[in-house]
Amino acid sequence: MNTKLGYIEDRSNGVTKEKLHPISRWIRSRKSTYAFSFIDKEIPLSIIEEIVTNGLWAPTHKMTQPWRFEILMGAHHKDLGQYMLDFYKKHLSKKQFPESRYQDTLEYPKNATMLAIVFQRSKNVDIPEWEEIAAISCAVQNMWLTSTARGIGCYWDTAEATIQYCNESLELAPNEKSLGILYMGYPKEELKERSRKRKLLSKKLNHNYKKICNLFF
Ligand SMILES: Cc1cc2nc3c(=O)[nH]c(=O)nc-3n(C[C@H](O)[C@H](O)[C@H](O)COP(=O)(O)O)c2cc1C
Repeated sequence: MNTKLGYIEDRSNGVTKEKLHPISRWIRSRKSTYAFSFIDKEIPLSIIEEIVTNGLWAPTHKMTQPWRFEILMGAHHKDLGQYMLDFYKKHLSKKQFPESRYQDTLEYPKNATMLAIVFQRSKNVDIPEWEEIAAISCAVQNMWLTSTARGIGCYWDTAEATIQYCNESLELAPNEKSLGILYMGYPKEELKERSRKRKLLSKKLNHNYKKICNLFF
């Protein structure tokens, strides 16, 4: 297990990390790693393909597979940085977005491998949109977990600026829309674990036993 990516102890029932099943360890060590923490190291294409292939193995209702992905390379790094800068200058006050943040914003994507997530609404199958977005979310989780297992930091960016950038710069068909970018990159060695918590299992799981004895009388 890559310790750089951190690990969350299961505090809800006291199971130690050694006793957890490997899948539970990977799921609980998955986390958001932001692009300013990435080093200048390329992710091999074979690994990106493995990550995306695992995304394709996500479940979909009626097998619609309502997605496609685009690796944004070359000028996209500079162009997205510039787009975010212009967007935040326009939409935020000087206090919310001071000049001291301009350079970092411009350079934010520079070390990231950016995977645009494109939602393709099915034309021939009549299922609710939310089911298809749920399916895409399963695909993203598969990719996020695979990245974690490969020592790659990652997070799903759905900021308005990011979505608008993709909508404007990708060639989207009428049934397609952007659902943001999966940012991926190798994290810095010295990356500190930030505090990550989850609500207790007891607050989120009910045991709802319905009495059946009345059925017979
Ligand atoms: C659908 C979705 C959209 C998200 N969009 C953003 C985003 O736009 N910006 C961001 O910083 N994090 C975003 N995140 C990451 C969440 O903030 C993060 O998963 C959450 O804080 C829990 O932290 P963890 O991933 O480290 O467990 C998104 C996560 C999901 C599932």
